[in-house]
Amino acid sequence: MKLAGCNEASIGIFAWSTIEPAEDAYDFDWLDTIMNKLAENGVYAMLATPSGARPPWLAEKYPEVLRTNSRREKELYGNRHNHCFSSPIYREKTQKINRLLAERYKNHPALIMWHISNEYSGDCHCSLCQENFRNWLRKKYDNDIKKLNTEWWTGFWSHIYTDWSQIQSPSPLGDSCVHGMVLDWKRFVTTQTIDFFKNEIVPIREVTPNIPVTTNFMCEYGIEDLDYFAFAKEVDVVSWDSYPQWKGDSSDANFATNIAFGHDMYRSMKHGKPFLLMESTPSVVNWYGINRPKRPSVHLLSSLQAIAHGADSVQYFQWRKGRGASEKFHGAVVGHDGSENTRTFRDVVSVGSALSKLDEVVGTAIDAKVGLIFDWENRMALKEMQGLRNNYKDYVEVCTNHYRSFWKCGIAVEVIDETFDFSIYNLLVAPMLYMLKPGVAQRIEEFVEAGGTFVATYWSGIVNENDLCFLGGFPGPLRKTLGIWSEEIDCLYDNMTNNVKTESTNGLGLKTDYTAKIFCDLIHTETAKPLATFDSDFYKGQPALTVNHLGKGKAYYICFNSEQEFLDDFYTAITKKLGLGNKLGVHLPDGVSISTRTGEQGNFHFVMNFTDVEKIVCLEKAYFDMLLGAEVEGCITLSGFGITVLKETIG
Ligand code: GAL
Ligand code: ZN
Repeated sequence: MKLAGCNEASIGIFAWSTIEPAEDAYDFDWLDTIMNKLAENGVYAMLATPSGARPPWLAEKYPEVLRTNSRREKELYGNRHNHCFSSPIYREKTQKINRLLAERYKNHPALIMWHISNEYSGDCHCSLCQENFRNWLRKKYDNDIKKLNTEWWTGFWSHIYTDWSQIQSPSPLGDSCVHGMVLDWKRFVTTQTIDFFKNEIVPIREVTPNIPVTTNFMCEYGIEDLDYFAFAKEVDVVSWDSYPQWKGDSSDANFATNIAFGHDMYRSMKHGKPFLLMESTPSVVNWYGINRPKRPSVHLLSSLQAIAHGADSVQYFQWRKGRGASEKFHGAVVGHDGSENTRTFRDVVSVGSALSKLDEVVGTAIDAKVGLIFDWENRMALKEMQGLRNNYKDYVEVCTNHYRSFWKCGIAVEVIDETFDFSIYNLLVAPMLYMLKPGVAQRIEEFVEAGGTFVATYWSGIVNENDLCFLGGFPGPLRKTLGIWSEEIDCLYDNMTNNVKTESTNGLGLKTDYTAKIFCDLIHTETAKPLATFDSDFYKGQPALTVNHLGKGKAYYICFNSEQEFLDDFYTAITKKLGLGNKLGVHLPDGVSISTRTGEQGNFHFVMNFTDVEKIVCLEKAYFDMLLGAEVEGCITLSGFGITVLKETIG
């Protein structure tokens, strides 16, 4: 660990059967030894609670701890993350072992943070969970089943419930057509998962009130059915597990945006506070279809990309490869050879050495004036919705495409949900804002009136928080802000396009023609002004892009799914108008992005080349290259997958 520059280790994540080999019989000796060794060597521990997987004896004696799936099949003992979040016994058992861990290590010098469980996910449909679901519904609908029937629109297909006991969680064998119910189930699962987490940390908070807690979230876009924005409120520090599938070729430049999006989202969850990169692989994973080792330089670039976007750590799964079971071929810092004489180990050393030069970056923030709404419940609702093109309603892809235009220019973005305070941004972008929760349209209107710029697209303002359509014309409560009425949507087959012609007076310096694909929203302007129109089909001449002036601000509406080129040109113009650019003030070649962290010591500009060829960036003045340890100026060359960190002292 010392050779690798590693000063922190997460331990005990799946250690339950080692700590408690038989009920109420404990063995902490091995853990004491590790904790002591870590402390003696100046390495901190993120100590895990072991609830992510359980010993066989526990499942055998208390079968209620195991999950029941949506087909109402009781799962067998096996794998991990297979537990009922309602089970009183599992809740009691996890609290008990967590209390013992907390008591034992509360004053241990190695303990720096709690790693609670592992990648909470999934749902359980057992009778305990059904009962909790019904109680959750009673509370939400004020114990009034008529209210529930109205909000779920249950008259449809004769589903009117007359008693709470008739309600069952969604199932392929039962209901999935009542979208309000499916959405409520997902909300309940989020609440129940968080509640389980809160139950787990009761003893931790009690015994070690000053040790922060985190739990590792996963995937660059999170997981669909668990609202991480809601979960993030309950942890002290956000952390996530990032396993980018770098190919090591020219496709990485486009792909890098997805990972940057993830980092920005996890940072934004705590309103810009630094997060932790909890897991990453030093070489390969073992679960992609094709597990290609990272090419030289890519590991350092990928690790520092996290730091660039707000992480204060780079951590690995896993330190050493196991000999057996399903993860024996997953990358590790130390392989089966057991030595430091590997390319992977040297890659890890290079990250350790880079991080040791970046101490000043720790704790610094990112100043973002652009907010992009990526709302979890909106995404859940869009997924369930039936209509338009059922094989294409990719919210994630569309949000990423909008985000990419900023990434290409190195403009900082916060990825937020509908509940955030919008007033801190100059520009608010909300692609496909299908669902508007109460008060959201009002807050957007106020944001625009106060001088903000808002960008919306087709398929916005369609349903309320319970997935009931707004009556009186889409985009519902956003109609005034956007100044348009959307009458219908054209869905195009894959090989079809329409042409968008911009008005010469568009004021954005747009080209004369762009391509529309997938969706064309057929709207009427009310107070808005068209900036472009469709050029063919029965809606030739109808608006394709509009702007509405409201108060001191502007609201744009993009009626079509576009190619990246349109979004790039459009946002280049908008950000120029708003005086937003990258903090280095430079033009970026394709595939190169910048992210800047700012602290009292100055600006730290991370300039990253996600292509496999050399790129040149010309600087306006001299900077201190933190990795090189020398001053640089003029045009600098970034090698393929190269990165440089430039310090700019302020004042
Ligand atoms: C993570 C998980 C780790 C390990 C890793 C493999 O999702 O938390 O325990 O399985 O994936 O990539
Ligand atoms: Zn259950």
